[in-house]
Amino acid sequence: MESSLWSRRNSRTSGCRAVEKDLSFRFGPLKESDLWSALRLQARAQWNQTEQDWRRVMELDPGGSFAAFDGGNVVGTTTTAAYGNDLAWIGMVIVGEEYRRRGIATRLMRSALDRLCGAGVSTIKLDATPDGRSLYESLGFIPESLIERWECGSVAIVE
Ligand SMILES: CC(C)(COP(=O)(O)OP(=O)(O)OC[C@H]1O[C@@H](n2cnc3c(N)ncnc32)[C@H](O)[C@@H]1OP(=O)(O)O)[C@@H](O)C(=O)NCCC(=O)NCCS
Repeated sequence: MESSLWSRRNSRTSGCRAVEKDLSFRFGPLKESDLWSALRLQARAQWNQTEQDWRRVMELDPGGSFAAFDGGNVVGTTTTAAYGNDLAWIGMVIVGEEYRRRGIATRLMRSALDRLCGAGVSTIKLDATPDGRSLYESLGFIPESLIERWECGSVAIVE
C-alpha cells in the first residue's frame, strides 16, 4: 500500500481546537489493559504492528494514546510520541470498519493535537495511507513525500 509522509506546523494562529460533534461512543486514554482489544482492531485492519510496537509507543509518551470505546471494545485508536518540543509523531490511527465516517478518527486526532499543541510541539508528522488523506488535510496537515518500505529477505551474518 502506498503511504506518504505528512506534517503540520503549529502556531498560535493555526489553533488546535475545533467544534466537536456529539458522538455516542466513549472516548478516553488507551491503557495497557485495553491493548488486547486494540490489537484485535489492528488485526482486522490488517496492519502488521506487533504488541511490542504498541507498548513501545505507549511507553514513549505515557498518556499520549487515545481510544474510542463501544462498550468494552476499542473501536478507534491514535497514539502520539513527542521528541522534545521540535517534533512529534502521530500513529496507529485506526477505526473499525463498521464505525467509520462518524467522526471518530477526527475526534481522536483532535485529542492528540490538543495534547501536542498544549505541550508546545512545533511540528507534527505522520505517515498517511490513502484512507487517511482527507482526514489529515482537514486538520491542517500537508503532504511532504512518499514513503518507501524496504525489505530484506535474508541477512548474511559475517563474523
Ligand atoms: C482513515 C480512518 C482512520 C478514518 O476514520 P473515520 O472515523 O472514518 O474518520 P472520520 O469519520 O473522522 O472522517 C472520515 C470521513 O467521514 C466524514 N464524517 C465524519 N462524521 C460523519 C458523519 N457523522 N456522517 C457521515 N460522514 C461523516 C468526514 O467528513 C470524513 O469525510 P471525508 O473522508 O470525505 O473527508 C479509517 O478509514 C481507517 O481506520 N482506515 C484504515 C486504517 C488507515 O488507513 N488509517 C489511516 C492511517 S494514516
